[in-house]
Amino acid sequence: MDRTFTTIIEPFRIHSVEPLRMTTPAERSAAIEEAGFNVFALRSRDVLIDLLTDSGTGAMSRDQWAAIQHGDESYAGSPSWFRFEAAVKDLFPFRHVIPTHQGRAAEKILFSVLGGPGKVIPNNTHFDTTRANVEASGATALDLVIAEGHDAAVLHPFKGNMDLDRLENLLGEHRGDVPVVMLTITNNSGGGQPVSLANIRATSEICHRHGVKLFLDACRFAENAWFIHEREEGQEHREIADIVREIASLADGMTMSAKKDPFGNIGGWLALNDDALAEDCRNVLILTEGFPTYGGLAGRDLEALAQGLSEAVQPDYLRYRIGSTAYLGNALLAAGVPVVQPIGGHAVYLDARALLPHIEALHYPGQALAVALYVTGGVRATEIGSVMFGRQPDGTEVAAPMELVRLAIPRRTYTQSHIDYVVEVVTAVAGEADSLRGYRMIYEPKALRHFTARYQPLE
Ligand code: F0G
Repeated sequence: MDRTFTTIIEPFRIHSVEPLRMTTPAERSAAIEEAGFNVFALRSRDVLIDLLTDSGTGAMSRDQWAAIQHGDESYAGSPSWFRFEAAVKDLFPFRHVIPTHQGRAAEKILFSVLGGPGKVIPNNTHFDTTRANVEASGATALDLVIAEGHDAAVLHPFKGNMDLDRLENLLGEHRGDVPVVMLTITNNSGGGQPVSLANIRATSEICHRHGVKLFLDACRFAENAWFIHEREEGQEHREIADIVREIASLADGMTMSAKKDPFGNIGGWLALNDDALAEDCRNVLILTEGFPTYGGLAGRDLEALAQGLSEAVQPDYLRYRIGSTAYLGNALLAAGVPVVQPIGGHAVYLDARALLPHIEALHYPGQALAVALYVTGGVRATEIGSVMFGRQPDGTEVAAPMELVRLAIPRRTYTQSHIDYVVEVVTAVAGEADSLRGYRMIYEPKALRHFTARYQPLE
């Protein structure tokens, strides 16, 4: 008899382990104070469960470690490069693949060529580095996600979708000023929410009708394709790789952080069809990253990524990946903790505004919650709210659309009991939410302030 069991099991067993170090609340209080109350400034050995990011923090597979042994470090034309290029083109058949050391290097190259003063670059929601690279070129970064994407509690299967009317209007009004439209799959800053295939098709149609290029920010493409497979009518019988190829066929290029879905500890690329644009980008690449057949990467990294790409689209893995993220989110919901719904792909986003209504936006409720999670249970998470997005290019400070704290789940790294522990810690902190106080920022750098800001707790 073919029975169905509901326990989500990790579709792998453990082959090599890393120790975790237990700490006391007193040790953690001292550590966070020394870090200026910024979790980015902690030493990771003082963190028990590190949910700061899913970027570069995943566990590589046996086959990736084996592939590393095939790394060929020839400066030009290495076989590792050709394996990497073939693996990228198998899923994303763009004419040119330009390897970079990580995603923001691809962004930097693309926007230094296409951006500049007077240019406008929309996205569903720009990730922080994407926005910063657009703005560093002198261009304006706009977020055009659908209205549901700004409401943490509303249920919508594809909350990452582009607002097509706003895009159409923007391209009409700013004729000639928009060199490229970006689409982030999944929409990280908006809660790890997917974009539907229908919305990608419609965005592509609008861009091309206006003669504007569409580029994907595709870090979490496999998770997005899984949501399309699960939620979009007519997609349930397709292979994940086939959905990914269709998504790629609708775009003119992509930027990629291979530290996410492709299971890299480092890596990225820029891929595109336009020959002249590719030549301009390669010229910047050679100045800043390296020769076009390795970019910012070692041959062994290229091998690990080629293997990782084939693992990223396997259905057993994706079912577990998305199911285990939902497990964390649903357990928190059941405990009465407000989280962004539906649960996203790589992370669960706590709604700090709903949990801490007594802390005003510019006293950083998400920052207060992130510090409390660390001190209470050694769990490190990241604020995605007014700390990350509050400072405007004109120097003013405004409240971000949402005050979130992201629990990002490294791939294939933590077990269900680690996650059960996280549920306990978050629930305990939520139970004492009234006692949390806001923060005052006492130092901030010019850009990307969340990485190095320092704070003082308010009385
Ligand atoms: N785009 C998106 C949607 C991202 O999430 C990231 C990185 C990047 C671009 C930049 O890539 O880090 O390789 O330079 N996100 C990480 C995070 C850092 O924690 O979400 P990178």
